[in-house]
Amino acid sequence: MCGIVGYIGSKQALPILVQGLRDLEYRGYDSAGISILNEGKLQRVRAVGKISNLVVKLKDQNYPGTVGISHTRWATHGGVTEENAHPHFGHDRKLAIVHNGIVENYRELKKQLEKDGVKFTSETDTEVLAHLIAKNYKGDLGDAVRRSLLQVRGTYGLLAMHSDNPDVIVAARLGSPLVIGMAEGEHYIASDVTPMLAYTKKVTYLDDGEIAVIKRDSVKIVNLKDEIVTKSTTNIEWDQTRAEKGGYEHFMLKEIMEQPTVFEDAIRGRLNMEEGTAVLGGLNISEDQLRELKRINIISGGTAYYAGLVGKYAFERLAQIPCEVDFSSEFRYRDPIVDKHTLVYAVSQSGETADTIMAVREAKRKGAKVRGIINVVGSTIAREVGAGSYIHAGPEMAVASTKAYTNMVALLLLNALQLGRLKHVTLGTGQRMLESLLEIPAKMNEILKQGEEIKKIALKYAGYKNLFFLGRGVNYPVALEGSLKLKEISYIHSEGYAGGEMKHGPLALVSEDFPVVAILTRNQLYDKMKSNIMEARARGAKTLIIASEGDDEAKEVADDIIYVPKTMELLEPLLNTIPLQLFAYYIAVELGRDVDRPRNLAKSVTVE
Ligand code: M6R
Repeated sequence: MCGIVGYIGSKQALPILVQGLRDLEYRGYDSAGISILNEGKLQRVRAVGKISNLVVKLKDQNYPGTVGISHTRWATHGGVTEENAHPHFGHDRKLAIVHNGIVENYRELKKQLEKDGVKFTSETDTEVLAHLIAKNYKGDLGDAVRRSLLQVRGTYGLLAMHSDNPDVIVAARLGSPLVIGMAEGEHYIASDVTPMLAYTKKVTYLDDGEIAVIKRDSVKIVNLKDEIVTKSTTNIEWDQTRAEKGGYEHFMLKEIMEQPTVFEDAIRGRLNMEEGTAVLGGLNISEDQLRELKRINIISGGTAYYAGLVGKYAFERLAQIPCEVDFSSEFRYRDPIVDKHTLVYAVSQSGETADTIMAVREAKRKGAKVRGIINVVGSTIAREVGAGSYIHAGPEMAVASTKAYTNMVALLLLNALQLGRLKHVTLGTGQRMLESLLEIPAKMNEILKQGEEIKKIALKYAGYKNLFFLGRGVNYPVALEGSLKLKEISYIHSEGYAGGEMKHGPLALVSEDFPVVAILTRNQLYDKMKSNIMEARARGAKTLIIASEGDDEAKEVADDIIYVPKTMELLEPLLNTIPLQLFAYYIAVELGRDVDRPRNLAKSVTVE
C-alpha cells in the first residue's frame, strides 16, 4: 500500500526520492508525488499513475534541494486524482506532509478547520493533518506535529517538513511503519527498509506513539507526552541485490525460482537430527508450557492463511492439539476462545498486515501466548509478539506471494514437529521428517526445471474464463492457494475447492468451458480424489492433473499432467504449490497482465 520516502543530507534529494519510490513500487499504488525544499520554498510535483508519469513531469525543472519527502498513494479517501496525491500542503503552503494510514475523525477536524477559514483542495483525510499541523506550527515543527497528533484518532506513518524549519524532517508513527536509516551526515526515512538498502544497513524502527525530529546529523525521538525515548539501532541483513530482478522478467518469477535456496535458509540450523526434532530458539516457551497447550490458533490473511491451513494438518497430526485457522480479519471480531493454554501463531510475510496486527492484540488481550512466523525482520508484528520464528525468505517484491508461502509452511511444519516430539511423535518419525525436509530443495529444483513444459500447458488454459482448483487433505489448501495465485495475477475467475465438496453444489458449474486443475499425488486420499476428478470429467471438464512422478494411472483422468517428486504427505504442499505458481505466472504473462503489480492490490495491506 502507500509508500513513504524521505531524505535529509548533503546529496541532491530528488534522485534518491525517485529511486526510493521505485523501490517501493512493489507495494502497489495509483499516484505519486514529491516535495523538495529549495532555497526556503517548497516545490511539489504530483502525478496520477506510474512513477514514470511523475518523472516526466519532473524532467525540465531544477530541484537542487537536499531535503525532501515523497509518497506513493493507494487511494482510500478520495479518488485517484492529482489533487488527492501526496504531499499535501498546509494552508500557507509552507508545510508539506506525506501520510500512510487513516484519520478516523477527519470529518470533525475538517469542519473545525473550515470554520477557521481553511480551504481544502482535496478529498483526502491527509489534507486535514496538513492544515492542522500548519495551524499548530509556532516555530517548532516537532512540537506542532506532536500537538496536532494529540487531536487525531486513527493511524499514521507521516513525514512533515516546513520551509521556515528547512533543516528538519519530522516523522511520526501510530500503526503504520516508519524506519529511519542512519548514515554519516544524512538520514533516510521510509515505510520499509527497501529504499535505503543501497545506502545504509543501520536503521531505527519507530514505534507507535513516537515522533522523530530528524536533522542531518541527529535524531531526537519523543513520545506523544514529549518525553525523550531512547532507541537502539538494528543492522539489516538483506542485501540490495535480493531486492532486484536479477535478470528475470518479473520479480514473481525470480521469487518462484528462489524457493529451493530460501527454503534452505528457512531450515538451516533448525534441524536436530539426533533428537529427530526442530530447534526453534526464538519461541520463548518452556517445554513444560508447550506440553500443557490445549489449543493452537493460526491467524493470517491471503496466502499466509493458506499456509496456516497446511499448518493445521501438521499440528493436529503431529502434536495432536486442536488447531483452528482464522482470517485475522474474522478472528478479531468473533470473540475467539483463547486463554493462557492457547498458542497463537501470527503468520505474515510483511509483518505489517493491519488485520493481523489487530488480531495479535486481541489474542494478547485475552491472555494467549502469541508467536510470529514472519518474514520482515523488525516489522510491527515481529516486534509486538517479541518471539517466534523468522522465515528467512528475503525480500519478496511481487504482490503475489510465492517463496514466503513455502517458507511459512516450512516453519509451521517445524513448529508442529517440535511440539509433536514433546508428545506422541517417535524419534524415527521425527528423523524421517527431517530427512524428507532436507530433500525438498533438490525436489523443488526438479519441478522448476520443468518450467518450459509447464508454460506450454498453462498457455492451453489461458483462454478460459473460469477454472476450478481441487485438492483433498493437505492438498486442499494447495488448491486454494493455486486458485488465489491465478485470480490475483491473471484476473481469471477461479475457485478452490475440497474435492469431496464438489458434489454438494459446485459440480453444477462444471462443463467443457470450466476446466479443473486437480492435485492427485500418491497419498491416503488418492482414490477419493481420483473419483472426484472422474465426476468432473463425466460432466465434460478438461483436467490438468498434478501427479506423483511415475504414476501412469493418473493419466487415465488427465488431459494434461505435471509430475512432481514424491515426499512425505505432510510435506507435499511444499512441492505441489510450485507448478500452480508457474501455471498462474505463465497465464498472466500470456494475457499481458502487470504480473508483479496486479490491479487493485497492494503488497502490504496496512489498512483494515
Ligand atoms: O504480508 P502478509 O503475509 O500478512 O500478507 C497477507 C496477504 O495480504 C497476502 O498473502 C496476499 O494475499 C498476497 N497478495 C497473496 O499472493
